Amino acid sequence: MTASQPIAEPIGAVPGGEVDLGGVNLSVDLAPARPGALSLRNPVLVASGTFGYGLEYGEVIDVQRLGAICCKGTTLKARAGNPPPRVTETPAGMLNSIGLQNPGVEAVLERYAELWAGWNVPVIVNVAGESIEDYVGVVRRLDGVPGISGVELNISCPNVGAGGLQFAVDPEAAAAVTAAVRRATELPLMVKLSPNVADVRGIAVAIADAGADCLSAVNTLSGMAIDQRRRRAFLGATYGGLSGPALKPVALRVVYEVAQAVKIPIVAVGGVGSLSDVLDFLMAGAVAVQVGTAIFADPGLPLRLVDELRAYCVEHDLTSHRELVGSALPQRRERPSVKGVEYRP
Ligand SMILES: Cc1cc2nc3c(=O)[nH]c(=O)nc-3n(C[C@H](O)[C@H](O)[C@H](O)COP(=O)(O)O)c2cc1C
Repeated sequence: MTASQPIAEPIGAVPGGEVDLGGVNLSVDLAPARPGALSLRNPVLVASGTFGYGLEYGEVIDVQRLGAICCKGTTLKARAGNPPPRVTETPAGMLNSIGLQNPGVEAVLERYAELWAGWNVPVIVNVAGESIEDYVGVVRRLDGVPGISGVELNISCPNVGAGGLQFAVDPEAAAAVTAAVRRATELPLMVKLSPNVADVRGIAVAIADAGADCLSAVNTLSGMAIDQRRRRAFLGATYGGLSGPALKPVALRVVYEVAQAVKIPIVAVGGVGSLSDVLDFLMAGAVAVQVGTAIFADPGLPLRLVDELRAYCVEHDLTSHRELVGSALPQRRERPSVKGVEYRP
């Protein structure tokens, strides 16, 4: 059986997973090929770049109750990031062009790994790079370090070797970086899809076949804003990534399409702001969600969503949220289109 065969039955169940009070089991296994390697107590994660390294919110919420924390993007060497301004609001969302500012993998491990090792909540390190060697270098350094529960590959980065083309837009490049990282570590491996492509399904299948344990979908959508007074691009880096509620329908479409193309678990990310959003993503085929931009306005949201999802399951006589996963997908699986997304104007 290959990783890209259609889903036969709901996936993501943790064998013998923790059952919450009320008889609802919200646990989820994000690496089912290696049971227990990345088992979460609940399906609400926090998205990379919106929750720092976890401890920044420690005085505001009980971070240990989260499903998992995806930390800020980490590179081999420290990066200063892009020139300001780096963020701006848009109707129903925001644009950011942080430019992967981070202290580099050595400093991240030195500052946080010991702390993470004492936490109940799994920490998934988001990894970025400009070459396959960059990604492999970071992941080799993370491999076997107590406190690191998994890796999320941010492949929406320019591939220097391919003239700046993003890894995420080409199936071969996406598969090559996934396979190289897979060879370099036993850590559970999540690969993050970009919405900036015509047809994401071939890319998702290539990543699954190259050995990813699960996918996250999606990263930000490319956009820009104009500073009318100065008559030029508003953001210092010209382009930025759109996130927040405006991104949700795009993320939902990607999850819906990819869930019909791959067999590995999908973690939805893009505009999650309410229980209704979580239910939409589950029904479209995701087993879990990440909350990102909404945290800036409401840091308590992710934990409230866990409680609201549990209450929804009780109210609807569900023993697990997994009964909802993929319930809105078409009954008959069709062959992936070769023409791109199904939208017809
Ligand atoms: C300020 C900011 C920084 C981000 N940094 C990263 C990053 O370092 N790595 C990454 O993979 N995604 C990063 N993202 C993307 C988010 O993880 C997420 O995919 C995206 O924002 C969509 O989710 P949302 O609409 O819930 O925010 C960042 C997003 C924002 C808003």
